[in-house]
Amino acid sequence: MTYRTEQEAFWAGEFGDQYIERNAGAQIVASNTALFSRILRQCGPIGSVIEFGANIGLNLMALHNLLPEATFSAIEINAKAAAALRRLGYVTVDERSILQPAATERHDLVFIKTVLIHIDPSQLPAVYDALHSSARRYVVVAEYYNPTPVEVTYRGHQKRLFKRDFAGEMMQRFSDLKLIDYGFAYHGGRFPQDDITWFLMEKAY
Ligand SMILES: C[S@@+](CC[C@H](N)C(=O)[O-])C[C@H]1O[C@@H](n2cnc3c(N)ncnc32)[C@H](O)[C@@H]1O
Repeated sequence: MTYRTEQEAFWAGEFGDQYIERNAGAQIVASNTALFSRILRQCGPIGSVIEFGANIGLNLMALHNLLPEATFSAIEINAKAAAALRRLGYVTVDERSILQPAATERHDLVFIKTVLIHIDPSQLPAVYDALHSSARRYVVVAEYYNPTPVEVTYRGHQKRLFKRDFAGEMMQRFSDLKLIDYGFAYHGGRFPQDDITWFLMEKAY
């Protein structure tokens, strides 16, 4: 498979495979359940959910418990992660890069969590467009925030981790997105996350 960016090849390959080994377990699902129960407090009914860059489904497992009636979809570039998602049995899996154009199907909730930070910044507008066009009502962005764009070394790698105000850029780009809620999830909390800042936006509909 050839990709447009070096970051995509990085996640599709060995680094992505090893990430799966490092990030698994019931404790992460418990933390994700605590996080999404907070985020969803402000939301109305949600019948369909899609995650961009879902890995093995640790967020979707949490959401499946919180929204037992909903349908779940995922886009994932790494083949091993996509196989694990398929094994869950309740996730429709689209194994591809989120940078590849595809037919748009709308979902009540579209979310992305610690994936925009790994995208080549020149490609962010295309991902913002794909997130926005896939959303019927809610968009959740949970990433590493920085008021201005910065690059940070990631596990010894350069050009693999970028922080910025992703949600703010989306709201600048799409005037129909309104901020509903936001928060920070700390690595030292009772239900730890990787110091992510989350934003819940609602699309005018
Ligand atoms: C840091 S992990 C986060 C996984 C998950 N969202 C979570 O919160 O646990 C990044 C995930 O995004 C996937 N990914 C990275 N770039 C992608 C792309 N261009 N298209 C689709 N998936 C991508 C990786 O394979 C990996 O599963």
